[in-house]
Amino acid sequence: MKGKILVTGGTGYIGSHTVVELQNAGYEVVIIDDLSNSTKDSIGGIERITGQKPIFYQMDCNDLNELNRVFEENKDIRGIIHFAASKAVGESVQKPLLYYRNNLNSLLNLLDMMQQHAVENIVFSSSCTVYGEPDQNPIDETAPIKPAESPYGNTKQINEEIIRDIVRSGANVRSIILRYFNPVGAHPSAEIGELPNGVPQNLVPFITQTAIGVREQLSVFGDDYNTPDGSCVRDFINVVDLAKAHVEAIDRMLAKKADEKVEVFNLGTGNGVSVLQLINIFEKVSETKLNYKIVGRREGDIEKIWAEPKKANTVLGWTAKENIEDTMLSAWKWQLKLREKGIM
Ligand code: WQD
Repeated sequence: MKGKILVTGGTGYIGSHTVVELQNAGYEVVIIDDLSNSTKDSIGGIERITGQKPIFYQMDCNDLNELNRVFEENKDIRGIIHFAASKAVGESVQKPLLYYRNNLNSLLNLLDMMQQHAVENIVFSSSCTVYGEPDQNPIDETAPIKPAESPYGNTKQINEEIIRDIVRSGANVRSIILRYFNPVGAHPSAEIGELPNGVPQNLVPFITQTAIGVREQLSVFGDDYNTPDGSCVRDFINVVDLAKAHVEAIDRMLAKKADEKVEVFNLGTGNGVSVLQLINIFEKVSETKLNYKIVGRREGDIEKIWAEPKKANTVLGWTAKENIEDTMLSAWKWQLKLREKGIM
């Protein structure tokens, strides 16, 4: 084994896919998750894919005593990947205190534990949302950080600053900050995938749930943007590709390859795809006709944003490989599996 990695939020969408890739790469994994936005089924799915059952603690990173117990019981943790956070943009506007308390406090607790237990490495799950509406696309890591458009986005910005400040204080901490664009799709085995609680906030689960009949109709939030077909443009990145970037980041930190103690990477394909284009791609690969209608814009939506992934490609040694057609098909196969299991 290459060592033990702690993954917070490891039963969640991106977390579970990352656990699979860590295990495939030879790491032993400890998951902390409070199951507030996922279920233990993910652990079964992970085990069916890799044959390895991760160590699992059902707990909240905000519970410092419980968190300390994990580190006491796993003294060989070599690094952390921190996913656990509340992440619905719209909900964060309605419940700012929940977002600031959960998202900031959980990171502060982890950084405390790292110092108490001499764990040096943390990969932080951030988001392209920190850039706001880009002045130009594609957008690279030197682009200015804009005032956050939501408490969710603000917690990502503040957490990045907390990490920089603790490193600047001379603490024995190194971090790689990964700014995701739009993670979509599911593991090709259809054993794990995206399963948001309640009505999906994000586009792709809403598409697949509409196609399978769980949702009546998809609302497309605006087609009057300054884009080729009027709908918003995003950089949709396959979740397995995204997971593999986390393994590269852990490998890089354990090998102490970087001079800087905090590195930032944009994780995207570098291709902008519009909402309407994505719907057409989905209809083609799923051989279904999607019931959707154009409605008004959604408050806070960015018009267009896609990544310049050159730094991740050259420095991290990672490149997104999956094409959008196969990615949308993987999302559909996952939805069909959920139906087959009677889950949705
Ligand atoms: C994408 C596009 C919508 C739903 C957010 C966060 C980001 C990350 C991913 C956590 C937009 C349109 C959506 C629908 C629609 N979050 N849409 N109908 O807002 O780009 O990014 O989620 O990791 O940090 O900012 O993702 O999937 O919500 O929306 O038309 O029912 O799809 O208007 O243009 P978003 P999204």
